[in-house]
Amino acid sequence: MTFALSRRRFVAGSAALLSAGCVRPAWSTGSPASLPIPALVDGINGEPVDLKIRSGQWSFKPGVTTPTLGLSQDYLGPTIRTRRNSELNLHYHNTLSEGVAIHGHGLHVPGEVDGGPQLEIAPGCQWQPSLSIVQPAATCWYHSHTHGKSGEQVYRGLAGMIIIDDEVSDAVELPRQYGIDDLPVIIQDRTFDAQGRLVYSLDEAGEDGWLGETVVINGAISPVARVPAGKVRLRLLNGANARFYIVAFSDNRPFYKIASDGGLLTAPVRLTTMEMSPGERCEIVVDLTDGKSAELLTLFEDEFDEDDNGIVRNLLDRLVRSDKPVPQPSLTLAVDSTLPAHTVPLPDKLATIVRPKETEILRTRDFILDMQDGGGGSHGGHAAMDMTINGAAMDMNVINERVRRGEWERWRIRSNQGAHPFHVHGCSFLIDQMEGAAAPPDQQGWKDTVVLDDDDWSEIVVRFDHPATEQHPYMYHCHILEHEDRGMMGQFTVS
Ligand code: C2O
Ligand code: CU
Ligand code: CU
Repeated sequence: MTFALSRRRFVAGSAALLSAGCVRPAWSTGSPASLPIPALVDGINGEPVDLKIRSGQWSFKPGVTTPTLGLSQDYLGPTIRTRRNSELNLHYHNTLSEGVAIHGHGLHVPGEVDGGPQLEIAPGCQWQPSLSIVQPAATCWYHSHTHGKSGEQVYRGLAGMIIIDDEVSDAVELPRQYGIDDLPVIIQDRTFDAQGRLVYSLDEAGEDGWLGETVVINGAISPVARVPAGKVRLRLLNGANARFYIVAFSDNRPFYKIASDGGLLTAPVRLTTMEMSPGERCEIVVDLTDGKSAELLTLFEDEFDEDDNGIVRNLLDRLVRSDKPVPQPSLTLAVDSTLPAHTVPLPDKLATIVRPKETEILRTRDFILDMQDGGGGSHGGHAAMDMTINGAAMDMNVINERVRRGEWERWRIRSNQGAHPFHVHGCSFLIDQMEGAAAPPDQQGWKDTVVLDDDDWSEIVVRFDHPATEQHPYMYHCHILEHEDRGMMGQFTVS
């Protein structure tokens, strides 16, 4: 049996050039698509936001239509904009012939409106949750959380972005013109068959989950976005089922990370490369004042040669300097100087983050993720593996943990095999340790996913402020959706 990718090996040593796999085939050869911008729906005034869960026909590749799923769109759903201290009323209508649960990932809302697998909407039925938005400004998202089917339904298109604003985000000088200098960027990968249909099979997924061959951004292959000659904010969402990406620009230009999963960082962090695990959001600002276009790369972390020495930076240096073809950009930002530009310097300070004192942390819980050959043995895929947390696979009838509302806890999480992005519902948390080391500055903000590996513990401090009952518990799980669907998930109450 081969072992799942160990992320540490990637971080510590990985620079050799780029096997053929990294230079992705150009699926579309004609003129590039423009970046699709999901419709922006205003959920601030309390009017219900209609989300019709339906099948669609979408062109990932010009001239080829692909059967898809979407929410009031052919593929993906609208971007829902809401505000702290407002009510967000959602109105789901499931027009599919299968059940669908839709979860608000990153939202601090009670279990009964969280959209976990217990809240499956039957075919033909509706669900109208009313969400009190009390958390700080952040980029969140919604996606299928159907029991055993999240991977397939997200893959076919059941996902969308949620933007929360507040007084703090209003006051900081950041680009905020949606679709102009503030762009939703949903990164996914998909495999297509000869007819252009999406190829997916949970049973045939490898132990690292279902890895698509082609990157799509908001459902387009290598699209171009026209942006002003100024600062541009990208709300990056790793919406892939299983891929970890390395994000960088092809000319190695710096960018500033301004927000993580749960909202603004205390200050912008300058980076040239960044890793993103499934489920994670990073808001970045890139400066295009020079008028040159910028090419965003989303490199496949699992395709780096693990035997060579070096770090990602070297890899990018070599990419830029060598004669080897630079990987196809996932997204090109092309400057259009007629557009209104945001040219104000980035603020030094963004938000205030108050960490709990050690004495405020009242208890510790441990979580160990495991994947073992279950002896089913029919083939090497997931079907033969048991995916567990603390020795148990997800069981809808079992509450795995009971947490007290309003109390800080330390959760220590590790893996017995492979790298996993661990996600917790109903909260944002702070990372104390990531894979045995202190969290780097760009991971010191509010988060709801943390990466763990099989060498060391990752530790978070977390507090839940909303109730989750036995009937409507919260989930914690690996955000590799095939791991989640195979049982690497648990349920907990908050009371
Ligand atoms: Cu984004 Cu429980 O999921
Ligand atoms: Cu979630
Ligand atoms: Cu996993």
